[in-house]
Amino acid sequence: MPTLATTVDGLALKNPFIIGSGPPGTNLNVIGKAFKEGWGAVIAKTVSLDASKVINVSPRYAKLMAKDGDEVSGWENIELISDRPFKIWVEEFKKCKDQFPDGVLIASIMEEYRRDAWIEIVERCQEAGVDGFELNFSCPHGLPERKMGAAMGQDCAILEEVCGWVMAAAKKPVWAKMTPNITHIEDPSRAALRSGCQGVSAINTIRCVMGINLETLRPEPTVEGYTTPGGYSSKAVRPIALRMVMEIALLIRREFGDRSLSGIGGIETGGDAAQFILAGADTCQVCTGVMKFGYECVKPMCEELLVFMDKHKFETLADFKGKSLPYFTTHADLVSKQAQRKAAQKAAQKKVVTADGEWSGDSFVQQSDALSRG
Ligand SMILES: Cc1cc2nc3c(=O)[nH]c(=O)nc-3n(C[C@H](O)[C@H](O)[C@H](O)COP(=O)(O)O)c2cc1C
Repeated sequence: MPTLATTVDGLALKNPFIIGSGPPGTNLNVIGKAFKEGWGAVIAKTVSLDASKVINVSPRYAKLMAKDGDEVSGWENIELISDRPFKIWVEEFKKCKDQFPDGVLIASIMEEYRRDAWIEIVERCQEAGVDGFELNFSCPHGLPERKMGAAMGQDCAILEEVCGWVMAAAKKPVWAKMTPNITHIEDPSRAALRSGCQGVSAINTIRCVMGINLETLRPEPTVEGYTTPGGYSSKAVRPIALRMVMEIALLIRREFGDRSLSGIGGIETGGDAAQFILAGADTCQVCTGVMKFGYECVKPMCEELLVFMDKHKFETLADFKGKSLPYFTTHADLVSKQAQRKAAQKAAQKKVVTADGEWSGDSFVQQSDALSRG
């Protein structure tokens, strides 16, 4: 019987499914629900020291529906990090660890470009008993205007420096969450890992404009008649996330040996999770999927992943982590592999008949040709 249990950076998870930072981890009440439903870990909504600067608008979501039904394929949000006071969060982190001592609770943190602020937020969350950290270097809207979030994640030098500050204070594992809004995701990933972070999470949302209303001619989601580009998530982003996870996994293998990787982006089924693990992920985060299907979706996801493992006779997640990585190559290599196969086929077809039983109806002309002179 295969097992989904796994230990990542010393954190013992009963399964690889983690609530991704966002609305599904936005207070103690919903975090508790996630643990009761059986999630392997919860990454809480991103917190900062001064929530008074965080002002959300409404509406702040917009959905892209599949053409032939009512299924949501893409989801835009212009939501900011948590607008709840840090003091309340610290109390809730403590209560959460009291109520769910075995629940793996990871704090997602974001601060301005100030060493003292990063150290303070790490130390205060740590005192509250969190099991690990995810550094949000990736929120694509609102915060970059304050040089936070994606603005930091897109600047490798700043990212490396901030990760260094965090690593000097952190006594728990630290994952740096990458923005996909960059050409080469390997660059910030390398910077974070070089500064000593135990792992990388990828991806956060992709900067987008959901659409323009053809009646009102206003872009959506419309707030007082206006909008601002937001972050795209859900199924539609999965192929992009999978590509980036694959690239980071190859980077880790090449340059760091073994570091952890948390895959995120459009994961909704056990099969989706299997693909991220095959591409090198240790864990799989789900955010929009929980907003679409509820916390209970973890059960069918676990069942489906177990069925996949059973079918392929994998006993543990480690048995298939990164198993598909050797099959990624360059386009030039694909061309050369195809040319090699064609040449081999041609040679096989040209094989000279040595006994009458070898004549074939399909390659009769070639065989005749091979037997003739000139
Ligand atoms: C409404 C919403 C709010 C989010 N808030 C945060 C956040 O506070 N911090 C963070 O690191 N990521 C945040 N995210 C990004 C998600 O954690 C995740 O990286 C992204 O949505 C892709 O995964 P998904 O397709 O499973 O949602 C948010 C996503 C959504 C949809």
